[in-house]
Amino acid sequence: MKKYLLIALLCNNVAYSQTIDFDALYRSWGANPLEVDIKRAQMMWNKEIIANKSCASCHTNNLKKQGKHIKTKKIIKPLSTQVNPKRLTKVKKINKWLKRNCKFTYKRECSAQEKMDFIEFIKQS
Ligand code: HEC
Repeated sequence: MKKYLLIALLCNNVAYSQTIDFDALYRSWGANPLEVDIKRAQMMWNKEIIANKSCASCHTNNLKKQGKHIKTKKIIKPLSTQVNPKRLTKVKKINKWLKRNCKFTYKRECSAQEKMDFIEFIKQS
């Protein structure tokens, strides 16, 4: 039993240190990496499709700065990978938060294209 636990822990660590194959991730969502449109994500970032709700509401429009959750008021560390190297390193986390944040911001899930555009936008921010 203990042996399996150790192996599981080791595998987990390996998974964390791997860098994500983003093109494969986008394809897994059903998006085409050749069609990425960062400008579109940049525009969407601040857009309030529902009043007072946009990605910038919590993450601000400077991704190098920390944000603040508009409801819980909790501090959110910067999304920019340049100042926060832990960002965009776990597929599970990316999927979980994109789902949650799109639902919060737009009352729907984001399309594969939108998610890909957002991630590429964050990567260059
Ligand atoms: C209500 C506040 C809120 C809004 C609005 C919001 N987010 Fe977030 N976001 C969070 C929180 C909280 C986390 C997780 C906590 C953390 O990682 O610091 C998070 C995490 C993320 C992550 C995970 C990054 C990683 O790998 O660590 C991504 C990507 C993200 N948000 C993108 C978006 C996008 C795109 C939008 C707009 C559609 C958006 N967020 C809108 C609060 C928000």
